[in-house]
Amino acid sequence: MANTGLASGTEVPEFPVTRPDSCPFDPDETYTRLRADRPVSPVRCPAGMNAWLVSRYEDIRDVLTDPRLSSRGAGSMHMLPSYDLRDPLPGSMIQLDGAEHARLRRLLIGEFTVRRMEALRPYIQMIADEHIDAMLAGPSADLVQDFALPIPSLVICEMLGVPYEDHEVFQRDSELLMGFEADEAARDAAGRRLEGYLGELIGQRLTEPQDDLLSRLIARGNETDRPLAVEELATLGVLLLVAGHETTANMIALSTLVLLEDPARMAALQAAPDTVGTAVEELLRYLSVIQFGLFRYATEDVTVGGTAVKAGEWLVAAIPSGNRDESVFPAPDTVDLGRQARTHLALGFGAHQCIGQQLARIELQVALTTLLRRMPGLRLAMPLAQSEFKRNDIVYGLRSMPVVW
Ligand code: HEM
Repeated sequence: MANTGLASGTEVPEFPVTRPDSCPFDPDETYTRLRADRPVSPVRCPAGMNAWLVSRYEDIRDVLTDPRLSSRGAGSMHMLPSYDLRDPLPGSMIQLDGAEHARLRRLLIGEFTVRRMEALRPYIQMIADEHIDAMLAGPSADLVQDFALPIPSLVICEMLGVPYEDHEVFQRDSELLMGFEADEAARDAAGRRLEGYLGELIGQRLTEPQDDLLSRLIARGNETDRPLAVEELATLGVLLLVAGHETTANMIALSTLVLLEDPARMAALQAAPDTVGTAVEELLRYLSVIQFGLFRYATEDVTVGGTAVKAGEWLVAAIPSGNRDESVFPAPDTVDLGRQARTHLALGFGAHQCIGQQLARIELQVALTTLLRRMPGLRLAMPLAQSEFKRNDIVYGLRSMPVVW
């Protein structure tokens, strides 16, 4: 187990997971104290290991750019009920380091250029409009199931060449992977089902290439001296499918809620929809949906924020805390849609910074402006206090959001 940096006998505090009752958008209040008093602080993670919790903005950027801090076992593995450090699956880009990671990132990056993503804007607009038409045809709707979830799911399916008709199957499994309730066996089974599903599609693309990301990835890999194996492609496909819809869907629903909570805020964005780009950055900062941060592993002795971290120890870059660091974002707990917040950490930083960030931005911009324009009377159908938040999932969000207009 990692060294805690505390004298033996001293109790290591539990990983902070409690959001204040006063505001469901604020992270655990402990972070404010940690940033001031002990910015690199030992905590006991639910998975059983101790880790250094890094809570200041600058230190988090250092962690995420230090090649001595490995992404092996990355993501939010520290929050699982238990965890074995295994070798990452080939193709699990988010967990690979150095040259292995760079090889996959290089093959994929051309699919996510600003130009390519902007070319998707009319399609995203069309599906946003179609889903709003469908909602307007009834008396009420669930904004999560009827709008926030289908938009990014349809887009990533279209990009990958995955039939959207199968969405119930892959959404169920990706929800299992994103939650912490399922045990390791159930999570493994969900991962295998998704990989089997993608593996079949890849098999079809190998014999009959289409105009989609998976086919182009196969072709690009074949031009290198190390073509992509089917299992690498399947793992990469699962990562894109899961990361491509869960995160943005939760951001769309939570962002809408933040807007509905303050009529003046909503009116300001309705009156100036061209400011949505700036507003989306602030919402990404404020909501920091990767709620338990990013896990890293020290392969060598390093110093983080003046604290010695030994080889073999774990760290957690606490994204929600870094995004509320008062030395970088004045009045950090206030939503200021005009704030220049683009330097936030919500999409990560360094070598693994979100590859889908431009897509996420466009989806959010289109979803929010279209909702505000076409449903100006949108409001919650029940009190906020009754909303069910995803307090225990890797990505913070809402399970459902009943609305009327
Ligand atoms: C608001 C929505 C999103 C948020 C908040 C988000 C957040 C993040 C974060 C924090 C990371 C860094 C992980 C790390 O350093 O360990 C990341 C990486 C990644 N994201 Fe996103 N993401 C979003 C949308 C998307 C979309 C739409 C896609 C795909 C279409 C995507 C695909 C990925 C992939 C493949 C990586 C791994 C990149 C690498 O390892 O080089 N994400 N994301």
